[in-house]
Amino acid sequence: MKGLILSGGAGTRLRPITHTSAKQLVPIANRPILFYGLDDMAAAGVTDIGIIISPLTGDEIREAVGDGSEFGVDVTWIVQDEPSGLAHCVQIARPFLGDDDFVMYLGDNMLEQGLVEFVDRFEAARRDALAPQLGEKSSKAPSAQILLARVDDPSSFGVADVDADGNVVALVEKPANPPSDLALVGIYLFDSSIHEAVAGIEPSARGELEITDAIQALLSSGHRVEHEVLTGWWIDTGKKDPLLECNRLVLDSLDRKIEGDLDASSVADGRVIIEEGATLINSTVRGPAVIGAGTVIEDSHIGPYSSIAIDCHILRSEVDNTVVLRRSTVTDIPRLTDSLVGRDTAVSRGGAMPRATRLMIGDHCHVEIE
Ligand code: TTP
Repeated sequence: MKGLILSGGAGTRLRPITHTSAKQLVPIANRPILFYGLDDMAAAGVTDIGIIISPLTGDEIREAVGDGSEFGVDVTWIVQDEPSGLAHCVQIARPFLGDDDFVMYLGDNMLEQGLVEFVDRFEAARRDALAPQLGEKSSKAPSAQILLARVDDPSSFGVADVDADGNVVALVEKPANPPSDLALVGIYLFDSSIHEAVAGIEPSARGELEITDAIQALLSSGHRVEHEVLTGWWIDTGKKDPLLECNRLVLDSLDRKIEGDLDASSVADGRVIIEEGATLINSTVRGPAVIGAGTVIEDSHIGPYSSIAIDCHILRSEVDNTVVLRRSTVTDIPRLTDSLVGRDTAVSRGGAMPRATRLMIGDHCHVEIE
């Protein structure tokens, strides 16, 4: 089984971060989202992995992942010139995939349960169907296996119509009248029949080759599509609030580790990670939280669910439920909450008169003044 991770795309919903950087590299608990996906693949025994990248952010992703040996995997890079859809990714990955079965994973998604059981189940179903045990009836091998999750607002997802016997009978992309509350999660298993299905579909109204259309084509031509309903959490981190939620969930699962320096008037309370080379001066960090190497927290309070990346400086401020990317500074802010702060960014309260809010912010930013 091969792996295909989709890490191209436009990332419009995470602008301005994605104007200059790949959303798959935004850190969750100070680790790029994409790395969790690579770990999940390796844990499921999938080590031959193709990664789709865009011309804009591909180099940064290549640099972060390297040759994959850190994760115990081999990486093949596949450049997608335009974000032309998830099924387009399958199409351009064909030379890498050949006729092998593969697991496809959206590089900005995270799920609690990992891939091991999901992959094992597909492999077992195909093995049993293709080579039935003595005395067993041969059944039709599944050509695909999808993951579904119950969601409150199915109309913004691909949605599965499942019949009374539990079979997937149809898939619809962002339906006005959803046939169920079962949304397609960004992890799919396919055999080589998907390539013929992709070859037969046309771009959708939004101009993309949709994977839902390709899976629908499999169903329509009589292929068996298995499904599983997720029990653990799953998050598409492509927007700020889900990203912060994902950060909270991952921080909740980490253990306390203090490797940085705390002066006598500083406290690290609860499940806190202070990386080596980080410094706390007259400050409190209340967990769950992580403070990156080289970061200085001075006369400040870092509250629960904060991830402060490397080489930041937080001075005379209070921060909680916030992700701060590398080399940024927060100075004299009484309370910064529910925020995502990009790289090399300065957030400060100046004393200049007349008192005013003075901004220099990029395109597609969102600023909420207290
Ligand atoms: P999406 O989040 O659905 O799309 P997007 O990245 O273009 O973001 P937005 O809707 O905010 O503009 O993509 C899911 C994942 O798949 C993500 O990791 C990017 C990747 N992707 C590709 O690699 N190629 C593509 O053509 C598309 C559409 C997505």
